[in-house]
Amino acid sequence: MKHLILTGFMAVGKTAIGKRIARRLGRDFIDTDSVIEARESMSIREIFETRGEPEFRRIEREVVAGLTPDGPAVISTGGGTFVDARNREALGKLGVVVCLVTSIETIVERVQRGGKRPLADGDARERLSRLYEERMEAYRQADVLIETDGLTLEQSIARVLKMIEPRLRSDTADAADAAGTGDPGSDAGRSGTGPQAKRSVKRRESP
Ligand code: S3P
Repeated sequence: MKHLILTGFMAVGKTAIGKRIARRLGRDFIDTDSVIEARESMSIREIFETRGEPEFRRIEREVVAGLTPDGPAVISTGGGTFVDARNREALGKLGVVVCLVTSIETIVERVQRGGKRPLADGDARERLSRLYEERMEAYRQADVLIETDGLTLEQSIARVLKMIEPRLRSDTADAADAAGTGDPGSDAGRSGTGPQAKRSVKRRESP
């Protein structure tokens, strides 16, 4: 079963978009930051402030390693989750990883309005730009990169759905093939799930 995993920098809209897509696809929605907060009975900010970022990252890795959704899910991750190689591997095994991409201007504007992100405290523009640059290489390892700059929430959702629905459908066809119930004349599901297949579908979508 392929889950849909959303990654990308802070404030690109992973949670807002993920929740709505989950509802539309009739899937469960899992937000790894919320799982961490529930597990630790603390906000992300409190964890950073009282226990430090390395401890937050350790908990984050444990939570990612323990993700075993019962049914098909949409999983939204924190902005730093996919930067960790072990998390990338674990998430890659769970399904299709979509990275949402937005300009740094949009990000700075959004995080300064929000106030809940410890890594964005103070005069954050330069720091966030540097962090975004550093993380880009990791984000590029997602299966699909989707730019949402200039799009409304609704348009962003439509773009993500358009990109991922064939992949989620091909998963169903793969399962049917494996069970011997697939249509042998059909190409559906032939994209496979191996690393080669992943590489072949990776592309960047612009608005
Ligand atoms: C972080 C992003 C946050 C949260 C934590 C660390 C990061 O999640 O996990 O504050 O390292 O970029 P969002 O991407 O949902 O803001």
